[in-house]
Amino acid sequence: MSTDITPSSNEPVVQEFPSPTPPPRKISRRKVIALAGTGTLVLVVGAGIWRAADQGVFSTGEGPAYEPWDDWRTTTKGPLDLVRAAILAANPHNSQPWLFHVTQTQIDLFADYRRNLGPVDPFLYEMHIGLGCALENLLLAATANGYITQVTLLPDAADATLVARIGLTRGNVPVSDLYPFIPQRHTNRYPYDTGRPVTSATLDAFSALGDDPDVKVFWFASTDMRQRVGTLLVDAANAFVADKAQDGVDTGIWWRGTWQDIQQRRDGITLDAAGLPDLTRALGKMLPSVSVAQQDSSFLQNTADQVKTAGAFGFLTVRNRQDRKQQLGVGRLWARMQLWATKEGLAMQPLNQATERASREVVLGSTPHFGTSLQTLVGDPAWLTLLSFRVGYSTHEGLRSPRRAVSDVVKP
Ligand SMILES: Cc1cc2nc3c(=O)[nH]c(=O)nc-3n(C[C@H](O)[C@H](O)[C@H](O)COP(=O)(O)O)c2cc1C
Repeated sequence: MSTDITPSSNEPVVQEFPSPTPPPRKISRRKVIALAGTGTLVLVVGAGIWRAADQGVFSTGEGPAYEPWDDWRTTTKGPLDLVRAAILAANPHNSQPWLFHVTQTQIDLFADYRRNLGPVDPFLYEMHIGLGCALENLLLAATANGYITQVTLLPDAADATLVARIGLTRGNVPVSDLYPFIPQRHTNRYPYDTGRPVTSATLDAFSALGDDPDVKVFWFASTDMRQRVGTLLVDAANAFVADKAQDGVDTGIWWRGTWQDIQQRRDGITLDAAGLPDLTRALGKMLPSVSVAQQDSSFLQNTADQVKTAGAFGFLTVRNRQDRKQQLGVGRLWARMQLWATKEGLAMQPLNQATERASREVVLGSTPHFGTSLQTLVGDPAWLTLLSFRVGYSTHEGLRSPRRAVSDVVKP
């Protein structure tokens, strides 16, 4: 459409004569409305830009809450450098349930029970998976920083919060090629590219990253199996939303709805990391608040899109679900898998609502619908699911989630 507004050459030219006394300047009603409209528009646009800036629309992934992704290699030439890598690990709901006690020769990794997910993770399985992820990052960083490590899991029978003791001595060991990808790894909740299948060779390469005899990955890659797992995850998402105790954890306790909240608390779930289209994400950030109903419907819609575009699903399973060491083992493998995926240009996302529902069924004493369905899919009673996820080729880079500073997670 043309936007040219120059008058055409045959436009009549009206000559104007000055009045003897200039009349008071009259502004027509229409003009007043037009001007008011312009003013309002200027105000609205101005307020919109102000609100957009205030809510971080133009600063995605920036500010103090995101600095740990940039300064992770700032070195103190000591063990604290390993903590910088550990805190960038995946963890449930970005609750960052960790504390570190650091000396020159040892790091103790503690679970911070205050940061539990309540009815979403009543047995702290997910918390310990997240701690396993942090441990793996820490160990990858140890070799890169010239340390030989000696790891003891749960070294103190009297203190269950002390999940790992890592002894450090100076020495040279080969550095893993996964290490540089620590700050590039992000949970990717965008739709995946359905035109690029994930080959069985790729799935085998993922499986080969595991070295713990108590942890095993089961793959669901055929159209039929993806359909079955996808349906289960969508059903679980619906059951999750319908259960106000679980839903409130996502939409209330761990939801960070404003830019100020994110920058101050530096944890939790954010709109930026939700995998929404860029425009929806920007508009969502500008809204004064997103209602619980909007959050729920967006979560359900997202889940439906996410399962539809999965290249494959995987279940990380263990022999004994209650065993903390095995939960940590799942975390360690998940960390390696996600880093390897990042290196290979693949995207990954846990979709763990079915196991969250299975735990909830145990708490409520209700019929184990999701527990049984997970078991049926695995098809081997020796292996129990702790983490379900999808993998595929990304259509959009995964965005950063906030992180607390190292100083906030180091115990005196
Ligand atoms: C045990 C565990 C369970 C998780 N469950 C889900 C999930 O069900 N859905 C999801 O979108 N992300 C899930 N995540 C991903 C976390 O929300 C994510 O790691 C966290 O918000 C930090 O973001 P980042 O991984 O991009 O650094 C899970 C992560 C872990 C470790």
